[in-house]
Amino acid sequence: MAADAIPRFIPEKHCTSYDAVSRTNVMPSPAEKRANLKTAVVYYSLEGNTRYAAEKIALEIGADLYALKPLKEYPRGGFGKYFWAGKSAMFKERPRLQAIRFDAAPYDLVVLGTPVWAGSYAPPLRTFFREHRLEGKRAALFACCSGGSADRCFEGLKREVPGCKVLGALRLIDPAKGDNPEEASRIIDFCAKLKTSLEIG
Ligand SMILES: Cc1cc2nc3c(=O)[nH]c(=O)nc-3n(C[C@H](O)[C@H](O)[C@H](O)COP(=O)(O)O)c2cc1C
Repeated sequence: MAADAIPRFIPEKHCTSYDAVSRTNVMPSPAEKRANLKTAVVYYSLEGNTRYAAEKIALEIGADLYALKPLKEYPRGGFGKYFWAGKSAMFKERPRLQAIRFDAAPYDLVVLGTPVWAGSYAPPLRTFFREHRLEGKRAALFACCSGGSADRCFEGLKREVPGCKVLGALRLIDPAKGDNPEEASRIIDFCAKLKTSLEIG
């Protein structure tokens, strides 16, 4: 056999620049590409529906999870809930939040979740946007409601992240209430689309 037909191992230090370049130019597979991307889910939830969806999404896409918590939480029951939380949404308040260790810099995708309050997003998200800049990131949105429209909520959220490429928006109806397999499978579909967008984007 001719000497040059024998497969040769070239130690790293003897590689020509051509060998080095051709090896580093190998395209990563979609799964490798996604594995290198960092994702975060940031959400506020008063009664657990948005938390339920946020935890499912974070698990599905392998994201870090950040819960926004007002220093003074809104009441959870009865008339007080609608009065105080509704008033806060109508007056576009910015409630002070407990500190979170969120730094947008390392994240490629930030998923933002909120309940729909009076057609809009919950005020703790407004405080979050004031405190953190997401320009240049990819974003995805989800909103939990009890059956009304989430269009205005999504429009408002998009206005808050003008420098972001929004990959998708998911409206859910009280996903944590009772046995709700339909909403659970919509969450899984949403995550599958996000993963595909991350691979090709
Ligand atoms: C103050 C307030 C306002 C609400 N406004 C709306 C609304 O405009 N449209 C709607 O479909 N649901 C509305 N809801 C219902 C919540 O959006 C819904 O139950 C959501 O799943 C709650 O999410 P959470 O459990 O994460 O807090 C409102 C609830 C509250 C407390």
